[in-house]
Amino acid sequence: MHSADPRPATFRNNGPLRGTVRVPGDKSISHRSLMLSALAVGESRITGLLEGEDVLATAAAMRAMGATIERTGEGCWTVHGVGVGGLMQPAGALDMGNSGTSTRLLMGLVASHRLTATFIGDASLSKRPMGRVIDPLSLMGAEFTASPGGTLPLMVRGLVPAIPISYRLPVASAQVKSAVLLAGLNAPGITEVIEPIPTRDHSERMLRGFGAELSIEVDADGVRHIRLVGGAELRPQTIEVPGDPSSTAFPIVAALITPGSEVTVTHVGMNPTRTGIYKMLEAMGADLTYSNEREIGGEPVADITARHSVLRGIEVPPDVAPSMIDEFPVFFVAASVAQGRTITSGLDELRVKESDRLALMATGLKAIGANVDEREDGLVIEGTGGEPLEGGATVAGALDHRIAMSFAVAGQHSYHGVTVDDVTPIATSFPTFEAIIDSLKVSN
Ligand code: S3P
Repeated sequence: MHSADPRPATFRNNGPLRGTVRVPGDKSISHRSLMLSALAVGESRITGLLEGEDVLATAAAMRAMGATIERTGEGCWTVHGVGVGGLMQPAGALDMGNSGTSTRLLMGLVASHRLTATFIGDASLSKRPMGRVIDPLSLMGAEFTASPGGTLPLMVRGLVPAIPISYRLPVASAQVKSAVLLAGLNAPGITEVIEPIPTRDHSERMLRGFGAELSIEVDADGVRHIRLVGGAELRPQTIEVPGDPSSTAFPIVAALITPGSEVTVTHVGMNPTRTGIYKMLEAMGADLTYSNEREIGGEPVADITARHSVLRGIEVPPDVAPSMIDEFPVFFVAASVAQGRTITSGLDELRVKESDRLALMATGLKAIGANVDEREDGLVIEGTGGEPLEGGATVAGALDHRIAMSFAVAGQHSYHGVTVDDVTPIATSFPTFEAIIDSLKVSN
């Protein structure tokens, strides 16, 4: 969805990073704010919405299915919803751009509405597996015609009334969990998702906030049983979206690895299902402090300050992975300049994100002088001990915003800078990334 012309950019060490910044709104919460508001009867108001391309794709799709969505100021949006069951037949294909979250969650919504929708996306999204949502949504009665391998373009025909199911997640995926729950909103009876490994719980929190009847029971084995009563009427809400902890990780890691730096990011969402990156950085010896801790719209929020730190390699327990799934690319950068070895495993999911993030990070990090061993399900990295990376190479971003930003951070602590072949995909999740990093440069 972003401009077709690639824009290369070189990132280098211009000395310490210092200052206080605020990153845009949380991507996951922004998507869900628009979707649930579009299903409530009446007007919802959202502030702090991420105005990145992924979220704008969700807004366009909800409009195409009947919601009235208006931007009233920077990050401020109003939504007039159509009510659960009220989505209408879209006139054309729904263009999801680069956004897996929009695609999978909207497939869930469409599955229990009387309409047929065609989903299309960019080259990266068109390679990503949709079978993980097609399987449960087919059990609920929706019909799918997908491209080979269960990919986009694909067509969904929803069923009314949909069949409520009990579904045990075969992969730890908040997107799959959310797709089933959203479909369950318009299914008679109880839809249950059984979640052996916890993933981000924004859908559960927000469904409750909008008035849906949802219960969570943790059984003796620590497995979560999430049960949603279908057919609820959602009530419009006023939502303040906290800053995205995933976007925050980029300036925080940049500060940690760049000597002399001290950076504060304010208003950051601290939901425990999202903060694995900060716990792992602290385990490496990162100097992180949290202040101004508070709650906003049912989500914990804090300001985070990072000071340059000599990091030490660690072994990341695989069960931490879901709470830092999007942060591994930038975590690998931190590991590349730490003292000693960092071992990661159990990360097969990283191969089916916006790119194969294990392969892309291994190739790019090696090209800029890091010592990386790519395994089937993780990377093993021998750090430089605090020395800058060599740099002086161009790395591929492969239409993946987080790969591009991770190498931009790597360039901060390199001898010869790092060139990313195309930085335009950064606009999918963090349109102000380059401006924020620039604003932190003391040399400005
Ligand atoms: C997301 C869930 C995660 C994450 C993605 C956003 C969400 O994907 O990688 O960026 O908003 O539910 P999976 O649930 O597929 O791991």
